[in-house]
Order: sequence, then C-alpha cells, then structure tokens
Amino acid sequence: MSRRRQIYEGKAKILYEGPEPGTIIQYFKDDATAFNAQKKGMISGKGVINNRVSEHIFTLLSGIGIPTHFIRRLNMREQLVKQVEIIPIEVVIRNVAAGSLSKRLGIEEGTQLPRTIIEYYYKDDALNDPMVADEHIACFGWATQEEMHDIADMAIRVNDFMSGLFAAINIRLVDFKLEFGRIWENDYSRVLLADEISPDGCRLWDMVTNEKLDKDRFRQDLGGEVEAYQEIARRLGLLPVDPDTEVLDLESHRKNRGL
Ligand SMILES: Nc1ncnc2c1ncn2[C@@H]1O[C@H](COP(=O)(O)OP(=O)(O)OP(=O)(O)O)[C@@H](O)[C@H]1O
Ligand SMILES: [Mg+2]
Repeated sequence: MSRRRQIYEGKAKILYEGPEPGTIIQYFKDDATAFNAQKKGMISGKGVINNRVSEHIFTLLSGIGIPTHFIRRLNMREQLVKQVEIIPIEVVIRNVAAGSLSKRLGIEEGTQLPRTIIEYYYKDDALNDPMVADEHIACFGWATQEEMHDIADMAIRVNDFMSGLFAAINIRLVDFKLEFGRIWENDYSRVLLADEISPDGCRLWDMVTNEKLDKDRFRQDLGGEVEAYQEIARRLGLLPVDPDTEVLDLESHRKNRGL
C-alpha cells in the first residue's frame, strides 16, 4: 500500500504529492542514465548524496537572493519543494569546453572559454532534447521574454556563485544544467529555480589532477562513480570524516544521528 500519491517517475527522481497543496516531495533514486536513457545503470548511494548536495547548494543560493523551489530536506532521500509549472527548457551554462559543445564544434575538451556561454535545450525526450534559440522559445511560447530575462540573469548569478564555491574546494565548474519553473500568485507568475543541482547535472573536475568527479565517470565507463560523488560531498563538508585518518566515518555518523 502506498502512503501517498505518486505524481511522476523520472529517470533520477520520483515526485510525490506533498503534505500541503502546492508542495511536492522529490525522492532521489540511485538510478543513472545517460545519452537520453540509452545507457542505464545504478550508482549506489547517489540519491542520498544528490539530495544532500542539492539541499546545500539551493540553501546557499537562497542566501544570495535566488528564488528557489526548495523548502526543506525530509530525510536521506527526500526533500519537500514548492510545486512549479516546469518551463520546458534545460538551461546549460558553460565555462570550459566539454561534452556536446566539444563534439559539435570541434573545440578541444578542457579549453577555457573566453566568456561564459548559456545554451537552451527543449525538454522533450522523444526529440532528444534539441538545442533551441531564444527565437524558438518566444515563437512557440515556452517562456515569455520577461521570463527568459530572469532566467538568464539567475543563470549568470548561479554560475558566478557556484564557480567560487567549487574553486574554494579545488574543483573546476566546467558546465552545468539548470531547470526553472513558474508559480502563480493570483494573476501573476514568478520564476523559481527548480529540479536539482548535483554531480548528475554538473561537470566538476579536480583543479590539480583534472580528474572528473561527476556523471561523466558513468557516461564514459571510467569507474569510481560512487567515490567521485562522495568526494564532492566530502569536499563540500557534507560527509563526516574521521579527523585523524581522514577516512569516511559512516559508522559514527549513523550512531550520532540515531540511524
Ligand atoms: N518543483 C518542481 N515542481 C514540479 N516538477 C518539478 C519540480 N522540480 C523538478 N521537477 C520535474 O520533476 C522531474 C524530476 O524527475 P527526473 O529528474 O528524474 O526527470 P527526468 O527523467 O530527468 O525527466 P525530464 O527529462 O523531464 O527532466 C523532472 O521532469 C523535472 O522537470
Ligand atoms: Mg532530470
């Protein structure tokens, strides 16, 4: 018997109806997919880490005045968020060439871009999430010009903030994906940052070794996915570490938290 209504099951998360109208619960799974779900697998413990990392970053972003859907984390795998009308655009912010940018334009992976690039992709799995221009977004009414203004402004602020956050722990924020949604108050709507921010949707490279600490380990069969996700959480100060051995001390963490 299920104790609440499931709204949607995606590739990485399940959405449930929240306790109050206008809220939903995001449940973070360990499932991993790549290349529009042509490649499927599991990264054990990923959901727990992504839930925690996303909570951390969304909380910090609220602190600098970015409006977000995040309300609070409920447990190891779930968070309560405001339900939004998702704007069907994936916003990709790039600081260094990698992934599809390198492939499509022949720019060597790792090339520092002279300026930050924002790209938009139409969220449609059947079409393979095609890249679109502002003109398509306006023409087909996926978002208004005003919403696109707010989105671009927020994307730049989030990028500046996150680039610094990760640089401080010796990680290069190569690129990342954001999703936005609108909430309605009477006849007016506001744009909020939604979905998640985690190593699933970011490229994060160690600044010293250039080691990849994100979902590219899974995409490219590099191995060590779990360790990479843990390393991000650890450097962000989100995993307990034994101060003497600097080894992950999950046992005492569980005991301290009564888990
Ligand atoms: N606050 C929110 N309110 C409503 N929907 C949300 C909210 N935040 C995120 N979502 C949506 O919930 C889903 C999260 O599930 P998941 O990330 O597993 O989806 P997905 O398989 O990646 O699918 P998609 O291609 O739609 O992103 C996404 O469709 C995302 O757009
Ligand atoms: Mg998703």
